[in-house]
Amino acid sequence: MSAETLTLLASRNPDGCPLGQCDGSGFLIDEETNTASDCRCRSRIIAKARVKSLEGRIPRKYQGVSFERPPVTDISRTAPHQIEMVRRYTRRIERNLDEGKGLWFQGDIGTGKTTLAMLVSKTALDAGRSVAIYSLPRLLNLLREAIDSPDGKLDLIDRLTAVDLLHIDDLGAENRTDWVLEQLYSIVNARYEAEKAIIATTNLMPDELSERLGARTVSRLVQICGDLIPLCGADERRGLRVPAQAS
Ligand SMILES: Nc1ncnc2c1ncn2[C@@H]1O[C@H](COP(=O)(O)OP(=O)(O)OP(=O)(O)O)[C@@H](O)[C@H]1O
Ligand SMILES: [Mg+2]
Ligand SMILES: [Zn+2]
Repeated sequence: MSAETLTLLASRNPDGCPLGQCDGSGFLIDEETNTASDCRCRSRIIAKARVKSLEGRIPRKYQGVSFERPPVTDISRTAPHQIEMVRRYTRRIERNLDEGKGLWFQGDIGTGKTTLAMLVSKTALDAGRSVAIYSLPRLLNLLREAIDSPDGKLDLIDRLTAVDLLHIDDLGAENRTDWVLEQLYSIVNARYEAEKAIIATTNLMPDELSERLGARTVSRLVQICGDLIPLCGADERRGLRVPAQAS
């Protein structure tokens, strides 16, 4: 039995049947003939369980992200305009998601792109909306695995299209191959056609985007996410330092 079947079996509507017909399990039991048939609420239960099996959690490092706290307060000192755009977006999160509007952040390593994208995803999750959060390399691995099963890839794309917000971190971090470009296009195009929002981050410079991600994909991303929000500055991770030579 697949993991998803198990999730489906385990899921029942905790508030009972929204249509008042079954016991919340999605099945109507006929006691006389001892047979079960699908309740009309079952498709909703399935849709919820599908979204649940995608990754909707904020990684630990970004769980406390907030406009009131560092590093966002630090970023707002050097990039007030960018923070204001994120604020404006999150204030109307419900409407933006309903209209399929997203955002994307571009900039050098360690400038706060992922932090701001997580802030948006957290706002969406707090508002009770469904979010799938992946780095592009992880998302592609998932597709590689899904391709091994007959309808696996179509099914995964359907699920990725079902969530209210798809968060793709590190666009362009994967080597460009025809396969990668095709998969990215399938995902972005499916959401574009369904008018669903995307939040993305990238290290690529604006003039590298088409070359690295494919012009058709970038054209759709621009429709969904609007203008790139640039974040510049020094790498705030400041990890590696070369020690001064002992004299
Ligand atoms: N302007 C800033 N001031 C202080 N700290 C910051 C600032 N921007 C980011 N940081 C900190 O730097 C680290 C990297 O931030 P983040 O992961 O958001 O960067 P990124 O732009 O996504 O980097 P990458 O391109 O490597 O993915 C985090 O620990 C974050 O808290
Ligand atoms: Mg990042
Ligand atoms: Zn029901």
